[in-house]
Amino acid sequence: MNKIIINSDKKEGYISPELHGQFIEFLGNCIYDGIWVGEKSEIPNYNGLRKDVIDALKVLAPPIVRWPGGCYADTYHWKNGIGDRAKRPVVYNENFGTFEIDNNQFGTHEFMDFCDMIGAKPWFGVNVLSGSVNEMKEWIEYCNRSEETELALLRKKNGSERPFQVEYWGIGNEPWCGGGTMTPQMYAIEYRKYVTAMPLCDFHDAKSERRLKKIACGPDGNKPIERVNWTKDFFGEIGKYRYPQIDAYDIHFYNWNIKQRDKSDVIFDEESWYNVIDSCTEIETVIKEQYQIIQKEIKKFSKTEDICMRDEFQCDLIVGEWGNWHGSSFEKRPALYQQSTIRDAITSALTLDIFHKNCNYVKMACVAQTVNVLNSLILTEEGNTILTPNYDVFLMYKVHRGGQKINIVSNELDDTLYIFASEKNSRIYVNVVNTDLKNNKIIDFEFMQNVKVEKVDILKSDCMTAINTVNEPNRIRKSEGEIPLKEDGLFKYQAKAASISVICFEIIK
Ligand code: AHR
Repeated sequence: MNKIIINSDKKEGYISPELHGQFIEFLGNCIYDGIWVGEKSEIPNYNGLRKDVIDALKVLAPPIVRWPGGCYADTYHWKNGIGDRAKRPVVYNENFGTFEIDNNQFGTHEFMDFCDMIGAKPWFGVNVLSGSVNEMKEWIEYCNRSEETELALLRKKNGSERPFQVEYWGIGNEPWCGGGTMTPQMYAIEYRKYVTAMPLCDFHDAKSERRLKKIACGPDGNKPIERVNWTKDFFGEIGKYRYPQIDAYDIHFYNWNIKQRDKSDVIFDEESWYNVIDSCTEIETVIKEQYQIIQKEIKKFSKTEDICMRDEFQCDLIVGEWGNWHGSSFEKRPALYQQSTIRDAITSALTLDIFHKNCNYVKMACVAQTVNVLNSLILTEEGNTILTPNYDVFLMYKVHRGGQKINIVSNELDDTLYIFASEKNSRIYVNVVNTDLKNNKIIDFEFMQNVKVEKVDILKSDCMTAINTVNEPNRIRKSEGEIPLKEDGLFKYQAKAASISVICFEIIK
């Protein structure tokens, strides 16, 4: 007997749309082939950007996209990626086994075109390891200055009259590993220098809501001891003396399925089904734990003696990279290529629901990565584009963006069932994920408001290892589900085995 009571009068937090963000990087075929094919390509494109990928992302409208890395950010020199494409320097990309020539065809302007076309805000990652404070200053100046400075004029010459107004700037990437194998104290020193030097450009109006968002790297979310120590030590160091602005703290967490390199994305048994699904939920522990440490450490910050400085310090927790990482992807060409089954779709849904449930603690998150790498939403194979079941999850869950998390009470619920509900525009959206591989589950929903069912979307698969391919692009695709029937004041819903549903109820006033 599974019963859920839903009360939309009890609002429990705002679901930031940025929780549905994405991440693209110069790695494997994510950007080259996946997003950028070039204007002369036979593959249909908008000014070089792959048309079918752009069209699919337009529908999804990701609120934010993080670029150029990842680890790549700490090797990236932005000036290589501007100006005449035929004259751009050729470099070599070794990022995560990519091992390919990189001719810098996709740079700042191409990324901004990409963001404009799909309706996303950009989040730029600054090169700390092999770049410099000055390189970052010039990049911001180039992107955001409206006055006619030399760099602003260069931007205009390169095709963008108006400044890009890039709001989000991340300082380095994973400094504990590929970003410099630093200690938190070392990174805190770098962070102080970089953010102090950031030009505000058009973001200088103190009264405006908009401000340059300075993002610090957080710990490796997959290391339970190190991640606690890192965050304590980083904020401990920052708090000792005048503290710089940290608008957000970016933790990374991957759902590792890599104990053996042969842990496959597409060949697995029932045991591995449950292992991968169960382990994705650890991110909830990480979020709660990191949020608490940050709050605790901030309270210890030294008080300023400067009467002009405000004492309040506000820092959001964000998850800049998340997704399933299967061992077999290490051996794949292109690098870190993974297919996605309904197992990946389920872990994507559960992860997004963990963000939704913890929307008071976590404000932004980016799936790794959008195309052709790890937990992809889209795969490309020469001229063909495949939408993975993860794409459908993001599409189905779009309704929660900007909504209010609402109160649900479950006295009795199978441990294979996960429920989340939000409200927006007089609609209640209820997510039901049934991770049981074999058994359908009946759930009774009781509402404290008068509601009627409007629609059900469901994503399921006839086989746990099935995938969408060029020959069968729609094998796993969302469809309309069965409408729950109302009996004795309760809505009875049958959640199919291994499925994700979003049930839309209309509130009748
Ligand atoms: O997403 C692949 C890599 O994983 C990123 O480049 C890095 O930040 C992380 O370790």
